[in-house]
Amino acid sequence: MAFYSDETLEAVQRGNDIVEVASLYTKLRQQGGSFRGLCPIHRDKNNPAFSVSPDTQMFHCFSCNAGGNVFKFIMQVENLGFVDAVVHLAKRARIELPEERKEDSGLKKLREVIYDANAKAARFYYDCLVQSTGEQARTYLLQRRIKNSTLKKFGLGYAPDEWSVLYKYLKGLGFSDETLDRGGLVSKNKNGYIDKFRNRLMFPIFDAMNRVCGFGGRSFDDNGPKYLNSPETPVFSKNRNLFALNLARKIKANEVIVVEGYMDVLALNQAGFECTVATLGTATGKEHARALNQFFRGKTAILLFDSDRAGESAALRAIPILQRENTPTKLLRLQGAKDPDEFLINFGAEAFADALRLAMPPVEYQLKLLKEKSVGNEDGVRSYINDAAAVIAELDPVERDLHIINIAKETGVSVDAIRGKLENMDTTVLPMVNTEAFFTTPKIKTDINEGIMKAYRNILYITATHNVFYKAIIDTVKPEEILYDAFRTLYSDICFRRNRNNAPVNPKDLNSEDKDNQDSVSVIFTNPMVYTNDEALRLALNHEIYFIKKAYIEHQITAAKSENDEKTLNLLGLARRNLPISYI
Ligand code: CTP
Ligand code: MN
Repeated sequence: MAFYSDETLEAVQRGNDIVEVASLYTKLRQQGGSFRGLCPIHRDKNNPAFSVSPDTQMFHCFSCNAGGNVFKFIMQVENLGFVDAVVHLAKRARIELPEERKEDSGLKKLREVIYDANAKAARFYYDCLVQSTGEQARTYLLQRRIKNSTLKKFGLGYAPDEWSVLYKYLKGLGFSDETLDRGGLVSKNKNGYIDKFRNRLMFPIFDAMNRVCGFGGRSFDDNGPKYLNSPETPVFSKNRNLFALNLARKIKANEVIVVEGYMDVLALNQAGFECTVATLGTATGKEHARALNQFFRGKTAILLFDSDRAGESAALRAIPILQRENTPTKLLRLQGAKDPDEFLINFGAEAFADALRLAMPPVEYQLKLLKEKSVGNEDGVRSYINDAAAVIAELDPVERDLHIINIAKETGVSVDAIRGKLENMDTTVLPMVNTEAFFTTPKIKTDINEGIMKAYRNILYITATHNVFYKAIIDTVKPEEILYDAFRTLYSDICFRRNRNNAPVNPKDLNSEDKDNQDSVSVIFTNPMVYTNDEALRLALNHEIYFIKKAYIEHQITAAKSENDEKTLNLLGLARRNLPISYI
């Protein structure tokens, strides 16, 4: 999926000495042939584990294990994708990048002009707000306790109460009807184009690169919908974009707060909670989860939705989606206010900080809700235990047991009875060794037999995650024995990381800009094998290793046959016949 030729990439790399680039982010000190400093990627404060080599033009952090060339460095430190990192570095070195592939350039141009029109529109709305036309809107902000500095920080605006001021203004600047229409700034009626947003308080929405990608507009009265948002456009999607992402991603914090409303983000910022984003009036989806993972690496997402029923069910629906993307998540429901904005008005920032500490991991949160629901319910305890069993059934055994003990304490029902209930469910949830549990795993297109691909997936997954067996696997299975290219590379990477600091390897460590690599990482960590205990796992792994080795020998046999290499063929035949069935 290379966008730029190797020559271009090399030119950009040559123009960006990695020591120079890294020095912009952290202070480096020469130590022998390399440079050392505090890691700007995991933002270390004490331990100078970050090392840059001028000779190889590579960096590596011995603490967070990040490493790579100057592109990788910029991707990580600036949270950019590969292409954007190239653009960033090309700019820095004043290298002009060639046009991208032809078929992309039409859409790319359109996106660029839409971004430009959006930026001009945001400026126009802002000017309207701070000038005399904006008086009503400014009064409204005052009522809502929004400070002037907040207005500026978020670039709020006012869309005047007229039919087509923005349209005329942007046309005057040379934008075409098509641009404004596709960008969602105007809509067509029988007399021509009119502004989409009229007489509304405007919230510009920025993407991670600080480009205006869309708008939300709040009405001042109860006429029409409270909010109007940009439609889906080539640069905006409510399923992907998050309000205030551009600001929040720059904030150092352990947590990122995810709220529902624009006003909540503003109020929280004013109270000092700047690492906050809002979903744009839509359900939390996997694209949101991915954005959280990408831009808030290592931070826990605290879902803080409105305290009403809709907010609660939105939070519950978000849980499995965030878990599927491995986004660390906690949930919080505020008491005594309908949303964070109102909470801050009622109780203040300190009370909010206290409340924030009560955010709970998903399982605890769900159990608490179920418990509340069962109170006063005639059949309360029984239904609580039934529902709770379903919530904890899929947890790992230790965690499950801890919950069982808690539930027993809370309800007075014996541990054995609850365990019995779960055992009845277990048979359907946790089969003996379920290596078939790949039903929703996307298939990779390859000529290699599906069973062998499955063996690779299991071996890679266990090597990455299992703290006992990984060593034996690494000693037994050599990378070259894995015939599928992307898995082979990945396996080498996993082994390398394991050998260096025997900690589990997670998907985020493994992703590169390469599409095959990304597909492989997601296949390996989606619906991984389920095993009941380590003995069962050992058996299953021995099977898989046997199949992998057999496939490798057979592959070599095919090669030897085509070369008529009798001697090798005999040796390989012998090896296949003597292939052990147990390895670890
Ligand atoms: N929303 C929307 N369309 C609506 C209502 C809401 O797109 N008709 C989205 C907006 O992104 C809004 C969020 O859902 O910010 C939450 O809605 P709500 O709680 O009603 O809005 P607040 O931002 O809290 O605004 P306010 O405090 O002014 O009521
Ligand atoms: Mn609200």
